[in-house]
Amino acid sequence: MSMDGDLIALVNKLQDTFNAIGGDAVDLPQIVVVGSQSSGKSSVLETIVGRDFLPRGQGIVTRRPLILQLIHTPDASSSSASTGLSAGNNNSSVRRSPRIGGNLDADHHDRSTQGYLPDLNHTPTAGAGIMRPGGRQMNEYGNVTYAEFLHINRRFTDFEEIRKEIENETYRVAGQNKGVSKLPINLKIYGPGVLNLTLVDLPGLTKVPVGDQPTDIERQIKNLVLDYISKPNAVILAVSPANVDLANSDALKLARSVDPRGLRTLGVLTKLDLMDAGTNALDILTGRTYPLKLGFVGVVNRSQQDIMQDLPMEDARQKEEDFFKTHPVYRNIAHRCGTKYLAKTLNAVLMTHIREKLPDMKARLNTLMGQTQQELNAFGDATFLGEQHRGSLILKLMTEFSRDFVSSIEGTSLEIST
Ligand code: GDP
Ligand code: NA
Ligand code: MG
Repeated sequence: MSMDGDLIALVNKLQDTFNAIGGDAVDLPQIVVVGSQSSGKSSVLETIVGRDFLPRGQGIVTRRPLILQLIHTPDASSSSASTGLSAGNNNSSVRRSPRIGGNLDADHHDRSTQGYLPDLNHTPTAGAGIMRPGGRQMNEYGNVTYAEFLHINRRFTDFEEIRKEIENETYRVAGQNKGVSKLPINLKIYGPGVLNLTLVDLPGLTKVPVGDQPTDIERQIKNLVLDYISKPNAVILAVSPANVDLANSDALKLARSVDPRGLRTLGVLTKLDLMDAGTNALDILTGRTYPLKLGFVGVVNRSQQDIMQDLPMEDARQKEEDFFKTHPVYRNIAHRCGTKYLAKTLNAVLMTHIREKLPDMKARLNTLMGQTQQELNAFGDATFLGEQHRGSLILKLMTEFSRDFVSSIEGTSLEIST
């Protein structure tokens, strides 16, 4: 069981605990994409998740924030609920059987190479096609089980339906004509191959109002984005298209305003395939142009034509890999380019982030526990036994939390007396 897997489980449990008691949510790391309209934000998120399910395209497509929570569910065949954590490990010898009829055996030896990004390491097996519109059910892939929206009480198992629901929900609240709403759409994706992680897709930064957009649309979107990225522990994925001068990057400008030292901003350079002939982004990718502690990762997402032709994600990823490996300038740095490397980097960033935040979360929990204990003392045992009493629930959850997770992590055990 990897330490990192434990840390992630710990954080998730912490979140569940705070959620269950209706307390203030813990300010957990979220990965938030920022960038100008059509810079490729939704495309980047989608490739990170490894699934075709976000509305993307030219013009303003993402018109409400999408809070996407990936939720790890224990593998039914495994006694351990740990997540083997090594996203981006491209062990092509590992093959995952399509999970039909609950045959989970294939997942066993797979565990150590399983990433938090469903199917990032997926190698198609005979008969396991790629998710296509109206195509296969997500559980055929063995690592994603189902998805749920907050606004609708039903489980989704088809990614094309998820995309349609995001579109419908966008229309319902933000209207038919390019309006933007700050009301988020909440989507949870569950599965044994998923690492607990929250990703946020946001509308792009624009300058000129179109359709039903108000005259101050630029300011409104900027404020909306700031709401998400100003949280000190948000990890900012600043997406800039490589075919526009980096000096004009709205993403970097906004990211810098909340993270001036570039400590929690990861640069993503999209559309490397669309740069003018004779130009390249080597200086940016090697950190010589713009300093970001977490660096820049170059990617090639699917083009509009690829999307229209339903180019499978696997093929797109292969194409991206080939692009970097055969490129006269990038081939020397191909190992630190592309979606897989981006996932790997994100994973490392997240781990560092969580480790740094752990003492703070522990302190908050301790405070809450102290308060609860006092509350209980004040009310006496009779209240403690009362079914609906909030305090007893808190204490029960915290005790559970503490026992199951905290004590298993070296140097992080909570002092708890019950
Ligand atoms: P968003 O508005 O920032 O969310 O951008 P989208 O992900 O919706 O992408 C906008 C358009 O750019 C779509 O037509 C994508 O196919 C295209 N696109 C995104 N990234 C790339 C890329 O790396 N290369 C190419 N050729 N097209 C891309
Ligand atoms: Na777009
Ligand atoms: Mg978008």
